[in-house]
Amino acid sequence: MSEAPDRGPRRRLRVVGIGSGGLDQITVEGIDVLRASDYAIAAVKGPDDPLVDFRRRLLARHAPGVELVGVTDPERDRSSSSTSSPSGYRGVVLDWHEARSLAWEHALESRPGDVAIPVWGDPAFYDSTLRIVDRIAERGRLDVDVEVIPGISALQVLAARHRLVLHEIGGTVTVTTGRRLREVVAAGADNVVVMLNADLPLEDLADWHIWWGGNLGDAGETLVAGRVGDVLPDLRAHRDRLRADYGWVMDVYMLRRDEGTQT
Ligand SMILES: C[S@@+](CC[C@H](N)C(=O)[O-])C[C@H]1O[C@@H](n2cnc3c(N)ncnc32)[C@H](O)[C@@H]1O
Repeated sequence: MSEAPDRGPRRRLRVVGIGSGGLDQITVEGIDVLRASDYAIAAVKGPDDPLVDFRRRLLARHAPGVELVGVTDPERDRSSSSTSSPSGYRGVVLDWHEARSLAWEHALESRPGDVAIPVWGDPAFYDSTLRIVDRIAERGRLDVDVEVIPGISALQVLAARHRLVLHEIGGTVTVTTGRRLREVVAAGADNVVVMLNADLPLEDLADWHIWWGGNLGDAGETLVAGRVGDVLPDLRAHRDRLRADYGWVMDVYMLRRDEGTQT
């Protein structure tokens, strides 16, 4: 009779939302989980990855003694020939998830214990960590118990800073990416939150109102609100300045259709 492979003791993998820029945006529940973990792991995208540095500072502040183990991130195919169509883009992302999950599994195998995975913002918005962790669980080589601790998403920080409710009374808000904005607007959305912005494709929306936030929670936090046609040049200048001054720029914005043109 063949024996089942030894998968070792059951491990807790806890995916912890850490907020979107400020060291104090993590919840008390999240801090408790960091402190109760044997170590934390994070993808490392380069020698001076500022988001890895942020996680190290977060641990030093809230869970001193818990080490951050870096896992070198596999290269992702960003060529336009592979990613220009939606199906091509999805295929490239799925290949990358597989490569990432194998790298993480290897890191977990070589080091026992319960692990925290600090995730930027909240794990439910535009983050692949849960998909990667699920692949590890499904592959079955490690016996893992996966749990998620929610965090504060960049879209919540944006709303708070601008003192905004993201929709009208009883209304709808659509959350999307810069890549999909055009189709969401064409489908009639009136309130749109946009994340993952390679650029600002807003020329056609000059009469919409925008509430924009760059590097929220960090030293360079910048807020702008106004009519798109009036503020667009400023937004582009802010993005360039943040990238030059801080080495990274992340921005999120809320768009509201001009009342006169609402569908
Ligand atoms: C990979 S997604 C991760 C989102 C994250 N899970 C969340 O809940 O905020 C990254 C995108 O979130 C937005 N974002 C995250 N942190 C931000 C920040 N501090 N300031 C402005 N936008 C931010 C940007 O649109 C960025 O391109």
